Amino acid sequence: MKIDVLTLFPEMLAGPLQASIVSRAQRGGQVRIDVHDIRDYARAKHRTVDDRPFGGGPGMVMKCEPLVECIESVQTREAVRGRVVYLTPEGVKFDQAKALAYSRLERLIFVSGHYEGVDERVREGWIDEELSIGDYVLSNGTIAALIVIDAVVRLLPGVLGNEASAQMDSFGADALLEGPQYTRPEEFRGRKVPEILLTGHHAAISAWRKEQAARRTSERRKDLLEKSKNIGSVKSPLNAAANDQQ
Ligand code: ADE
Repeated sequence: MKIDVLTLFPEMLAGPLQASIVSRAQRGGQVRIDVHDIRDYARAKHRTVDDRPFGGGPGMVMKCEPLVECIESVQTREAVRGRVVYLTPEGVKFDQAKALAYSRLERLIFVSGHYEGVDERVREGWIDEELSIGDYVLSNGTIAALIVIDAVVRLLPGVLGNEASAQMDSFGADALLEGPQYTRPEEFRGRKVPEILLTGHHAAISAWRKEQAARRTSERRKDLLEKSKNIGSVKSPLNAAANDQQ
């Protein structure tokens, strides 16, 4: 997969893209990620990328020319033009299903907005999709792009082991929260690991984990249970829990 990020703050991405699984995926060749500074496409003497809004009002608006020239330049560097995704709180809400859908694309181009937004004509003419990572306002879309990249890259074939990716597929389809996890020691400051996990009875452990996951989902995220019920055909602990409640 090829990912490009267009931003006014490339330095915000330098560290995070070189850490953990995203870094490994780049080294392993599962993804190529390039970050582009929109300011490099500003022709004006002072490299301005924003201007006052027509009609007045507070704040500044990102200008058409540098942004569009950046998008077009980046698009033509590969055979595939790619899907252009603009990060904004006004976009469609990002979720695991979206991450999975993105992971199946050949190329993604993320455009990070700033200031009071970008000139509407860019959105109309050059953006394929607008995406929000949640109902809150960040100072710009760069960290939002990073979050989406992280969620997508870990789903690419070969990035995680087979076992993990199989699990993720069912999570993606079912939106089930995970149950509790434990590692050594068996007792920590008086808190014991649940007995069942020490028995070695794989079937019983698996059933317990499913039940715990369903319970946690039901306690914390009832909305996910509803979502899973609507998916319907997928056999999962979540659906089992949902069906139990009917
Ligand atoms: N830019 C600012 N806030 C954002 C959000 N919540 N999601 C995506 N992009 C953003």
